[in-house]
Amino acid sequence: MNEGHLTFLASPDWRRMLETDVLPWVDAAGDLGDDVLEIGPGPGLTTDRLRQRVPRVTAVELDESLAAPLAERLAGTNVDVVCADATASGLESDRFSAATCFTMLHHMPTPEQQDRLFAEVHRMLRPGGIFVCTDSLDIDMIRDGHVDDIFVPVDPNTLQSRLNAAGFADVTIDVRDWQFRAVARKAA
Ligand SMILES: C[S@@+](CC[C@H](N)C(=O)[O-])C[C@H]1O[C@@H](n2cnc3c(N)ncnc32)[C@H](O)[C@@H]1O
Repeated sequence: MNEGHLTFLASPDWRRMLETDVLPWVDAAGDLGDDVLEIGPGPGLTTDRLRQRVPRVTAVELDESLAAPLAERLAGTNVDVVCADATASGLESDRFSAATCFTMLHHMPTPEQQDRLFAEVHRMLRPGGIFVCTDSLDIDMIRDGHVDDIFVPVDPNTLQSRLNAAGFADVTIDVRDWQFRAVARKAA
């Protein structure tokens, strides 16, 4: 991530936006259950909120320079931080009651890797488990914040078929002014 983006994701402004915009949307998606996977926690403001809602969180972060301080900060809590590529983390199949990712999909370098992630999330969810993700739309304000950074936005219009192809059912996509939310379920 570029420096400006990283600073923003650790800022009080992003904390406020999570409280007012993102987390209420996640809460409305349904019960996340007892064992939740978070993909791409970054500095961990999303993890801080998620871990207040559920008994156990496993946060998988690719970037060692973010995963290490997060693991240190949350040591002894209900969060396990794993430094790994979530498309090949080696975590158990059929384990998690829910999987989440917030503003991370567009940080994956190709649509093929995003699709690999969807398939991996499906593998790691237990039957009946839900996947809840939010991500930014391809609009100038967001694109401008990704200079010298990866920006591969997901088109919400194609997401239903992509999630179906990964094995998910009951897909719902909601689009707002700068972001979308997708909720999908692994068949029981
Ligand atoms: C924009 S940050 C979002 C951070 C946090 N979810 C939030 O909303 O505040 C995206 C994060 O996803 C991580 N990431 C990107 N690709 C990943 C992958 N394949 N596996 C795990 N984490 C990944 C990046 O390193 C980065 O920390």
